[in-house]
Amino acid sequence: MKKNWFEDKVKKFSSIGGYQKPELIQDAVKLDSNENYVISKQFQNDILSSAKKNSDIREYPLGGVERLIATISEFVKMPSSMIGVGNGSDQILDLILSNFASSQTKVLTSNPTFGFFEERCKLYDVPLIAIPFLDNMKLDIKDFLKQSEKADILYLDSPNNPTGFQFTKNDLQKLVKSFDGLIIIDEAYGEFGEYSLANMVKTQENLIVVQTVSKSFGMAGLRLGYFIASKKFTTAFMNVLQYPYPLSTLSIESGIEALQKPTIMRNAVDEIKTERKRIIETLKNYDSFKVFDSKANFVLFDAHGSYKRVYSALTEQGISIRKLGKIGDHDGCLRVTIGTKEMNSKFLLAIRDLLG
Ligand SMILES: Cc1ncc(COP(=O)(O)O)c(C=O)c1O
Repeated sequence: MKKNWFEDKVKKFSSIGGYQKPELIQDAVKLDSNENYVISKQFQNDILSSAKKNSDIREYPLGGVERLIATISEFVKMPSSMIGVGNGSDQILDLILSNFASSQTKVLTSNPTFGFFEERCKLYDVPLIAIPFLDNMKLDIKDFLKQSEKADILYLDSPNNPTGFQFTKNDLQKLVKSFDGLIIIDEAYGEFGEYSLANMVKTQENLIVVQTVSKSFGMAGLRLGYFIASKKFTTAFMNVLQYPYPLSTLSIESGIEALQKPTIMRNAVDEIKTERKRIIETLKNYDSFKVFDSKANFVLFDAHGSYKRVYSALTEQGISIRKLGKIGDHDGCLRVTIGTKEMNSKFLLAIRDLLG
């Protein structure tokens, strides 16, 4: 019966966990979602005011995406014809998966990988070949090269969320060159890392490099992601797969304003990297923690048996971090976003009060 078919589908979808958002804690020191508070509220207010002046929301944003793409093109120094946009990089990843992947296409990735990506693979019944992180939260490129024959799609977040790991440029380039399926390199945290693979897109037609303003520009609420890929893929994506108006007028205009001020972003990224070093070094002073190196705007550490206690004690003091639990051989993983100096000091002080 037709009705049963619908009910079965709803039942199947209900059985999938879906992406787990962090707990909503009022007025928290928010270090749970890899957002960027080093970019000031004033900067964002100025951007929004200018964007508002250029917006008429009675109209569909006809021509807006094209102007935004021209600005991104200058920012990433790649031709406009090789740039596409989406409602957050989440939506770009989802559109690629829903149109190119199926139960017949195997995705090679790491375990763990970006949670949203993994959830969407579950939704579309896409099988994963997931290479686990080693004891020191590193990956071995040889494992990927070995498995690459069996996979149709390669997805890597570089740097990886939640570990902060990034392959050396040489290693990742080697893997990308040898893989002949579809390659998605997710550089959501690219600005905090060591390098970008965006340039490889010029010579490698099967490569899509996905980036976002959510992390580096501190504009997660804008929902603005973009990708760099071959002209052929980009044209098909933007003309056929993407919605006619994927971004709101305010997102388009704000994106254009922000991307013209890269120095503000670069200064914030530098400050976050300095603070990342301070957090890693301070956390390493506690024998009860194992702290992992990070190339992103967050730090992963294993608090072993006491991770739930550490998480709850921080929550009680209004400090929200991410509780992850078991990752590989590490059973008490917590992930803390690098915030402003003040936010980070509050976090470190609370840890000292608890364990010091
Ligand atoms: C690896 C990775 N990719 C993509 C995203 C999503 O970014 P956006 O805000 O552009 O949708 C995130 C957000 O946490 C992420 O961690």
